Amino acid sequence: MATTAPTGSPPSQPSLTHPPPPRKLTTVKALSESPGLSSIPSIYTFPKQPYHEPVSDTKEPIPTIDFSLLASSHPDERSETIRELGKACRDWGFFMVTNHGVPERMMKAIIEACREFFELPEEEKRGISGKHVLDPIRFGTSFNESVDEILCWRDYVKIFQHPEFHSPNKPPSFTKRVRLVAREIIRGISESLGLEKDYIDETLNLENGLQLIAANLYPPCPRPELAMGLPPHSDHGLLTLLIQNQIGGLQVQHKGKWVNIDPIPNSFLANIGDHIEILSNGKYKSVLHRAVVNNRDVRISIAVPHGPALDAIVSPASKLVENLGNPPAYGAMKYKEYLELQQGTMLNGKSCLERIRNGD
Ligand code: OGA
Ligand code: NI
Repeated sequence: MATTAPTGSPPSQPSLTHPPPPRKLTTVKALSESPGLSSIPSIYTFPKQPYHEPVSDTKEPIPTIDFSLLASSHPDERSETIRELGKACRDWGFFMVTNHGVPERMMKAIIEACREFFELPEEEKRGISGKHVLDPIRFGTSFNESVDEILCWRDYVKIFQHPEFHSPNKPPSFTKRVRLVAREIIRGISESLGLEKDYIDETLNLENGLQLIAANLYPPCPRPELAMGLPPHSDHGLLTLLIQNQIGGLQVQHKGKWVNIDPIPNSFLANIGDHIEILSNGKYKSVLHRAVVNNRDVRISIAVPHGPALDAIVSPASKLVENLGNPPAYGAMKYKEYLELQQGTMLNGKSCLERIRNGD
């Protein structure tokens, strides 16, 4: 940013007062382990407005969907759960998923596998990492190291799981199970919108749908009130399922306020992504969420986003547009292009979705 000295004052020395931001790609893990660290480099400081708005003390619980009822062969149980699912998507965009059948030991094992991965020497982690958004394994820090103006207090590894499976060392059992759960929830979402059960699955070719595992490491931070694990954003894709170690930090925007979401053991936290907002023509909104950090504990979360096939073109479902006399609120775009757009810029609210929103 250019600084202009007030008239009459001596010329400022921009090179001293505004040094260029350091672009040394140290991981947050390495930084947090520096001996005697008591403050944080200024590039990790997010301005109070709009990033550190206070948290609401609402006691309104986040909705819970009992997956066993959604998958039930009993039609009444299923239709009641689909109603609840529709309400959860409309009111919150976030919900807990219980009784999903993914064994607890698998959920714990994947968190431990990610913890071990982050413990590997830095060169080894960097060594397996691709550079491009569509490379199947990417390790890094912040959100997008090459463009972020403020760095997030977060390291990550993102690994494609479907349609092609990739892994440094693990079999696909966990993400295979998670994908079955996600597809069933997406079928329920489809029905809750008044569409055919398989409408989303078929239109967006979910047989070849993209699934990633995005593991986040949030090391302890000496100044958690200044830093941010992930700034407010919505997720690309259709549905993200998230698990975490028992350390809180996720906050969701609900009725204009930030709400803490406490981890519930053995359940998934689900949220709908931008592509459900597009497909539903805005009936269901992808919701802003952020990750805050703390000064005591290492937090690990594993987000498993599920999207359309990379080549699928996503636009509002024609049934929701024509039937209701609503004009399409979003333009059509190939999922792959959206992904490159969102992942290639600084994470910034719902700015990517805004780009394809049609004007009034
Ligand atoms: C994400 C995300 C939240 C968290 O990875 O997109 O929102 O709690 N993570 O780590
Ligand atoms: Ni997210």
